[in-house]
Amino acid sequence: MIKVKNVTFAYNEGGKLALNDINVSFEKGKYIAILGHNGSGKSTLSKILTGIIKPTSGEVWIKDILLSKKTLNEARKNIGIIFQNPDNQFVGATVEDDIAFGLENKRMSPEKMREIIYDLAKKVDMFEHLEREPQNLSGGQKQRVAIASILALDPSIIIFDEVTSMLDPKGKSDVLTLIRDIQQTREKTLISITHDMDEAILADELLVLSNGKVIAQGSPQEILKNKEIIEKAKIDSPFIYKLSSKLKGISPTYDANELLEQICK
Ligand SMILES: Nc1ncnc2c1ncn2[C@@H]1O[C@H](COP(=O)(O)OP(=O)(O)OP(=O)(O)O)[C@@H](O)[C@H]1O
Ligand SMILES: [Mg+2]
Repeated sequence: MIKVKNVTFAYNEGGKLALNDINVSFEKGKYIAILGHNGSGKSTLSKILTGIIKPTSGEVWIKDILLSKKTLNEARKNIGIIFQNPDNQFVGATVEDDIAFGLENKRMSPEKMREIIYDLAKKVDMFEHLEREPQNLSGGQKQRVAIASILALDPSIIIFDEVTSMLDPKGKSDVLTLIRDIQQTREKTLISITHDMDEAILADELLVLSNGKVIAQGSPQEILKNKEIIEKAKIDSPFIYKLSSKLKGISPTYDANELLEQICK
């Protein structure tokens, strides 16, 4: 689905490498979480994948398209991105207009369009707010509208760049539930950049960056029990893991159900 081959990137010619020889691939339908300390290169990698910036060297393949100036528009149809800051990602005057925007080039009847908008608005629990101006919504509501507007475009890949980091616990949990619902359909490849370990354990796969390099890729279970990686990447252990490691007679786990089973035994 996505292939990154020997990608290197420096913001300034001859300057520090923000990405240093990255080689990764992401399979269709997977939910991948990208972790790493501040400045490790996560956002740079997401900008490379969406073609916002061009690698200094190396190749990026989206589906079977090699990213280049010529293929950029075509490749971008496959990929949507949602940013950390809930503001500045709206184009419509109302929630409805914003979701509609992505559908406008698709030449469908107004009835069909309305049906899709209503479906998406319900999916993200914003049906009651279709007439409202996006600026006046809460952070969590804004992110849910942004997700609906991206879903309207129906890209096969969606990148979430720390979309929950500016939200309160309720907003965060609503958005994570929504991401999980999309994950469960297995129709889209989801790439989520996050500092939130409780989100990371939900992913199928983790990619860990440190100083512009990939230092680990694999299942959350495999990676998060590796102390060396955790320390090198300066990432935190998930709450369930910290809790289970402190309990007497319980083996450390990332799985809430497994922890419950152990406790109830
Ligand atoms: N526009 C820019 N111009 C110059 N250097 C930049 C720019 N954006 C990022 N960098 C540098 O590139 C490196 C990688 O930054 P990047 O934004 O990809 O990190 P990140 O992993 O997303 O960090 P964070 O967790 O803080 O969002 C850092 O050293 C950063 O200072
Ligand atoms: Mg970033």
